[in-house]
Parts: sequence; structure tokens; C-alpha cells
Amino acid sequence: MFGAGTDTTFATIEWVMTELMRHPNAMRRVQEEIREVVGAEAKEEIIGEEKLEEMKYLRAVIMEALRLHPIVPLLIPREASVDTQLQGYHIPKGTRVLVNAWALGRDPKLWDKADEFCPERFLNTSAFDFKGKDFRYLPFGVGRRGCAGIGMAEVTLELVLATLLLHFDWELPDGMRAEELDADEGHGIVIHRKSKLVLVAKPRRH
Ligand code: HEM
Repeated sequence: MFGAGTDTTFATIEWVMTELMRHPNAMRRVQEEIREVVGAEAKEEIIGEEKLEEMKYLRAVIMEALRLHPIVPLLIPREASVDTQLQGYHIPKGTRVLVNAWALGRDPKLWDKADEFCPERFLNTSAFDFKGKDFRYLPFGVGRRGCAGIGMAEVTLELVLATLLLHFDWELPDGMRAEELDADEGHGIVIHRKSKLVLVAKPRRH
């Protein structure tokens, strides 16, 4: 529970920040949204959970980062409990089945501009959710062995990111340009960035 509940959220926050730093327009738009929603209370340190509902673009940014970087890319292995026919293949009982959520999220036959970071694709649609409503998008897995912590993960991701983006403006170190920041993946069960993400946080000027 501790591993599943902490490392996952931390890795996802890094990926969201990586993509926002690589896409300054999305960064501008999400910060504007958060600052507008919080409004006059912006000097308050803590964002109320009830405000998150209004941060539609932030949610789309998180969904899009998880499409490109599902941090458990092969989900948790399954075992077929009965003999099964699937798309012409016979899968005998007892077969270990790995679901490639990474490939589903990047398949150009399933997604327009599959390799591009485009949060707008998740705006104004209820076709996708974190529970696996649509099999093209499975960052939290699906079914009875799907992620047990979706509710907590959603709130944690939104609160932490909204707070970081409300109170700080973010820059790359040493004059690095957005296109120079890599998105190389490390390896493991939970996929983090290969190299550390180093950013400069500047307290927001009110
Ligand atoms: C961004 C955050 C998170 C992501 C992307 C994530 C993703 C996943 C994925 C892909 C699985 C495997 C699902 C499958 O194979 O169908 C999983 C399982 C699991 N997750 Fe999460 N998770 C996150 C946060 C959390 C949190 C916060 C908790 C608990 C507080 C948690 C608890 C679990 C547990 C217990 C399982 C195993 C469920 C089982 O095998 O029955 N996760 N998670």
C-alpha cells in the first residue's frame, strides 16, 4: 500500500511538470485557470478541495500526461482463469497475460497526433475516466484488480499540482530551453524519469 500509494503519485507529478515545462502554452493556460479559480484567496496557502472541480484544464493536463506516461505501463500481470477466445487467438486457462497500457495510449490508429502532448483532447468529453471506461486509456488499469487508490490519487495529484502551480512560476535551470528538456524514461515497475527533473521555483509575485 505504501509503495502503491506514494511512488506512483510522485512519479506522475514529475511527468506532469515535465510536460508542462516542455509546453509553455499549456503551462500558461493551466496557471491562468488555477489562479482564476482561486481568485482573491490566492494568498491563502491551502487550496480547498471544493475548488478542484472547476479546474477542468488541470484535470485534462493530468490525464494527458498519464496517457503519454502511464507509470505502470504493463499494469499488473493477469492469469486467464478459463480457456478464452480473443480476436481469433486461443488463450488457454493459466496463461499469463500482460496488458500494454503504454502502447494503447500511444497507438496512432487510436489517437490523433498520438505522440503529442495535447490536453485539449480530454476537454469537454466524458468518454474517458481513470476507471477504464474506454480501453484505449488505462493508466490506472481496469476491472477487479484495477488501482485501489484512484480516489486518493486524483485528489492528491490535483491538490499538489494546483498548489505548486498557484504559488510558484517555474523555469528551467541555466538558460535551458523547453525543447532541450528530455522525457526519457527509467525502468522498473513504476516508471520515473531517467534523469532527475531540476527546475527553478520562483515564488509568484502578487
Ligand atoms: C497517480 C497515481 C497512481 C497510479 C497511476 C496508479 C496506477 C495503478 C495501476 C496501473 C495499478 C494496476 C492496475 C491493473 O493492473 O489493472 C495499480 C494498482 C494498485 N494501486 Fe494504484 N496508482 C496510483 C496511486 C495509488 C494510490 C494513491 C494508492 C493507495 C492509496 C494505490 C493503491 C493501489 C493498490 C493497492 C493496487 C493493487 C490492486 C490489486 O492488485 O488488487 N494506487 N495502481
